[in-house]
Amino acid sequence: MPQNEFHQQTMGQQAHRLSWAEPYKIKVVELLSLTTRAERQRAIKKAGHNTFLLESADVYIDLLTDSGTSAMSDRQWAGMMRGDEAYAGSRNFRHLEKAVRGVYGYQHVLPTHQGRGAEHLLSQTLIKPGDYIPGNMYFTTTRFHQERAGGTFVDVIIDEAHDPKSEHPFKGNVDIKKLSNLIQKVGSEKIPYVSIAGTVNMAGGQPISMGNMKEVRALCNKYGIPIYLDATRMVENAYFIKTREEGYAKLSIAEIVRAFCSHTDGACMSGKKDSLVNIGGWLAVNCKELYDEVSNLGVAYEGLHTYGGLAGRDMEAMAIGIRESIHYKHIRARVGQVEYLGNLLREWGIPIVLPVGGHGVFLDAKAIYTHIPQEQFPAQALAADLYAESGVRTMERGIVSAGRDAQTGNEKYPELELVRLTIPRRVYTQAHMDVVAESVMSVYEKRENATGLRMVYEPKFLRFFRARFERLM
Ligand code: F0G
Repeated sequence: MPQNEFHQQTMGQQAHRLSWAEPYKIKVVELLSLTTRAERQRAIKKAGHNTFLLESADVYIDLLTDSGTSAMSDRQWAGMMRGDEAYAGSRNFRHLEKAVRGVYGYQHVLPTHQGRGAEHLLSQTLIKPGDYIPGNMYFTTTRFHQERAGGTFVDVIIDEAHDPKSEHPFKGNVDIKKLSNLIQKVGSEKIPYVSIAGTVNMAGGQPISMGNMKEVRALCNKYGIPIYLDATRMVENAYFIKTREEGYAKLSIAEIVRAFCSHTDGACMSGKKDSLVNIGGWLAVNCKELYDEVSNLGVAYEGLHTYGGLAGRDMEAMAIGIRESIHYKHIRARVGQVEYLGNLLREWGIPIVLPVGGHGVFLDAKAIYTHIPQEQFPAQALAADLYAESGVRTMERGIVSAGRDAQTGNEKYPELELVRLTIPRRVYTQAHMDVVAESVMSVYEKRENATGLRMVYEPKFLRFFRARFERLM
């Protein structure tokens, strides 16, 4: 058969194929450790029922986070060998700068050690005590830096985002009314910027639509308020725009990312997610004066403006990862795998946040452990039980993560009390997802016997990372 005919036939077949398959094959493997139930019970007790405090050697399938846990490609590893470890003006920085400009479209790029480094610089530069920062739901480190700079975060996400059962396709959308009410109430001069995340992690990896982003831009333009994006999972967000929002099906992921970012003034980025690296981030802005200011601070906290806490090799891996992340086949398989797990759990009747998000499946702990009141940390207990059952490590995203009110010190009681099964990129197989679903099922079947927890150590900041608990009997 002539080659082009063969090509046409195979391409034709692909067009009709519905299943996603990983657009890569495996070159290196890492062996997993299997422990006994008794070992796991000891391990989780020693860890104070906090999955962040487990040793990774005691974990079988690690769904703690998708942050820094991706498998790099052979191209990225090859790039690591081409690290230019000069203190200043590394060529890898130029590659990174070019990739960020080319894909996200921002002009001035400052590398940072990871996402929260960028959040720190932006918050310290733009926020004054007494300011308000509206956003489409909080993220832990983002809000922490906003509050540390003297600001108050205000949640202006649509109500549907707080309802695990709502199947709104864009639960990350801003409620324009909530935003405009806030502007009326506090005045635009008290709002240094609007903080937009694509996708919204704490809502379950839910996307914001392009249409909504344009509306936010129009409103902000009216009052001269800038918009800064948390671009950490913007590529996943773009996939949802392409597949769910009318008018975007024919655009490439790259075109959608670029168009979305064009409605914002800059972005904080954790490269550890979308960009397929184990470490790295950046802050990028269009305003030269702001770039000069954040760079001044960056030199003190992160490193010189051409490395920002990263080795040259890290910047190279991130530059390559940015380009790999926007390939349609990659992102389809990535989100496809998350959907596969979510659909299994859904079919089995296990309460999860709907629709299934971009980077993980979120169990609705309130609906699973209905008998455990929120002050006894049902999601924290469920994550600990899931680990003890199967060695699958997940994390709490509920009252422990929400923390205390910065002003009053009172507990916040978030609507969402979730356990996040976060899927690292290019790391686990479909069979692993089956095992995970079966593990969740066995915990679900025993749900009536579960008991809550009591917090016995509470760190001052971002408590979920290091808090310790005891089991209530
Ligand atoms: N923004 C979002 C939406 C994030 O999910 C994260 C990190 C950050 C900012 C901060 O980036 O970790 O590089 O400093 N999320 C991780 C997670 C920790 O597990 O969801 P970082």
